[in-house]
Amino acid sequence: MTTRYRVEYALKTHRRDQLIEWIKGLLAVPFVLHSQPTVNYQESGDALKVVAADTQQRYAEIMRDVGGLITDHIRHYAGNHPGKSKLKLLVPSVGTFFTELHLEEAFKYQDSRRFISRRRFVAPSFNDIRLILNSAQLLGLVRSSEVELVTFDGDVTLYDDGACLTPENPVIPQILRLLHQDRKVGIVTAAGYSEAPKYYERLYGLLDAVYDSSTLSPAQKEGIIVMGGESNFLFRFDPSSDCRLVYVPRSQWLLEEMRAWNDNDIKELLDLAESALRTCAANLNLPAGVLRKDRAVGVYPVNGVRISREQLEETVLAVQNAVERSAVGSRLPFCAFNGGNDVFVDIGDKSWGVRCCQQYFGKGQPIAPSKTLHIGDQFLSAGANDFKARLASTTAWIASPSETVDLLDELEAAVNP
Ligand code: IMP
Ligand code: MG
Repeated sequence: MTTRYRVEYALKTHRRDQLIEWIKGLLAVPFVLHSQPTVNYQESGDALKVVAADTQQRYAEIMRDVGGLITDHIRHYAGNHPGKSKLKLLVPSVGTFFTELHLEEAFKYQDSRRFISRRRFVAPSFNDIRLILNSAQLLGLVRSSEVELVTFDGDVTLYDDGACLTPENPVIPQILRLLHQDRKVGIVTAAGYSEAPKYYERLYGLLDAVYDSSTLSPAQKEGIIVMGGESNFLFRFDPSSDCRLVYVPRSQWLLEEMRAWNDNDIKELLDLAESALRTCAANLNLPAGVLRKDRAVGVYPVNGVRISREQLEETVLAVQNAVERSAVGSRLPFCAFNGGNDVFVDIGDKSWGVRCCQQYFGKGQPIAPSKTLHIGDQFLSAGANDFKARLASTTAWIASPSETVDLLDELEAAVNP
């Protein structure tokens, strides 16, 4: 493998979302052609308004056309002709869409909040497009059918990295609202503990609020579950438990395919990952310890130091590469990711976690991907663990817990316009 290839891979593939980059490129054209950086704000208010209206119209037209390409892509996939999708030709890494995306409308909504088309010096950005895609997804979900299941990542999505979901967190009333509306909720987190009290420690604000609610019915309260270690440990709400949760044995929720994951393979994969992590930690002189668990192995910093982003990414890519190239890595799904200040390799991934939630609540008829929304912060293609959820559900990519709160408000407004 040439160095050039490695540089391209490292710089581009895992640190960029190809679809977002492509849309950014399309919007850059009207930005360049229509923005008027030389118009003076004070002197020419009217001229600025005309330019902004013109730019807005062109951005909106582009977003409408991209929405059309996505609809066309969905149609070809449904008809078993993925090769005919024009979008796939333009953005080869593009995945599956479970609903249409109402991109023009979503653009107008985000433009009214972020004033994208009024900017003359800063072109439509990655974050602008990420938020437009989220809005378009919410509209697609509520207009095509109903949102029956919302799954949430934990760190950075519900609370700050490494923090806990405490009682004053504004996401709590919103999650209670989802349960009130008879929707199901799953917390699908990488945090992998086999005992319920550990999750209570992290999530007590939410679990106590569900327990204390006098308006939720017992059945609605049972609408919340926690899936830990990506897809390894399931807990259901139980008001008779001190920690509000009880462990659900795997025999009650594993998907058929998961029953083939055997203990020897799991041990072999984790041994291999552990050895790759140790080698990498020694090579980079990381101030880190190695933590081996039942279904995961990770490196974490000792003495409260921070590991640099480059070291974390190098470690993820090194361990992922080592496991991918092994025989066991092709038999067993795994997820290597950068947790912000640690690196973990888990057995399974969030696509399995979300599917298990769909089956658990569906009781014989799993909830469809087009009726499921997964909200998370890690959607880059390597070293990020929410990315795999895209295989099982629609997704929203947020960048902070407060964006999750905004997104749930937006969902409510889309459901009850
Ligand atoms: P998430 O954002 O909710 O998916 O949580 C990810 C974080 O959970 C990681 O960055 C780790 O700090 C922590 N964690 C604790 N135990 C595990 C484990 O077994 N696997 C992966 N991550 C873990
Ligand atoms: Mg996260």
